[in-house]
Amino acid sequence: MKVIFDTDPGIDDAMALLYLSKLPQIELLGITTVVGNASIDTTTRNALFLREKFGIAAPVIHGAGETLDGVHKEEPAIVHGINGLGEIDIPAVDESGLLAGTAHQFIIDTVNAHPGEVTIIAVGRMTNLGLALRQDPSIAKKVKQVIIMGGAFGYKGRSGNVTPLAEANIHGDPVAADEMFAAEWPVVAVGLDVTHDILLDKDYLAALARDVGENGELLRQMCEHYANFYNNVMGFPGVVGHDLLAVTYALFPEWFETRKGPIVTIRDGLAVGQTAQMPETRKGGDPAWNGRPHQTICTAVDAEKVLAHFRETVSA
Ligand code: BDR
Ligand code: CA
Repeated sequence: MKVIFDTDPGIDDAMALLYLSKLPQIELLGITTVVGNASIDTTTRNALFLREKFGIAAPVIHGAGETLDGVHKEEPAIVHGINGLGEIDIPAVDESGLLAGTAHQFIIDTVNAHPGEVTIIAVGRMTNLGLALRQDPSIAKKVKQVIIMGGAFGYKGRSGNVTPLAEANIHGDPVAADEMFAAEWPVVAVGLDVTHDILLDKDYLAALARDVGENGELLRQMCEHYANFYNNVMGFPGVVGHDLLAVTYALFPEWFETRKGPIVTIRDGLAVGQTAQMPETRKGGDPAWNGRPHQTICTAVDAEKVLAHFRETVSA
């Protein structure tokens, strides 16, 4: 499976990247970066650092530092740390892993070079995808699938994390998200409805550090900071592996329950970043949703299988 990984590393982004690097069925074509968990220079530096650590051959491509709505949002240092990776030591990185050009141009060129073959896994703000669509709308028909970590649709009462109504990746660039959901490509949203089931507790992280070696220990160290947020602020018994679940969907869609229908993102106001799907089984409809493609959201997941597979894969 040919994959472009669009990311804002980010601790759970690091988990997803380690996972991708260990999967023989994945051909990683590029790692495109976006502002989000930290500034664009920091997320790009982090992607280069992780690429080197995980022995990844695919290049990193610098992406958008400004969102399409033009609204600056505070960086979530309380979640991912000021350096985006839980304040671990990050030495000077090997810049040779950086490919010249912009992320959205890389997406356009790569999709055009492999029509019908490329899966985009996007686990940050949708800005690079939005820019790529604006510049070359024809790519929508040539992409195999877009799997995003983003959104929240109210299953199990999960409707937001940045606000009670909005998930971070969508709230971070609601305009890009709305354009991305409206495009004629098949989108699967792996949102908070399912990612909040993927809890990595202390014992699980200790086992990773033991079984995976250096990179497992790296994840465990990053997660000390991440756990301060999830345990103390959110009251969760572990840290949430949001982004790794988008990778799992690419491999095992049968482990998920889903619902189809057009999706609208609220672009401004108090509910900015809220994602709302009109189920396709509902008769009638409302003009705001009419004419949009029927996208897929994940409504339930077999978390036990996911956690076992992640652990087995990164330990191999
Ligand atoms: C998403 O926001 C980011 O902080 C995480 O990396 C994840 O992609 C969760 O809402
Ligand atoms: Ca992310």
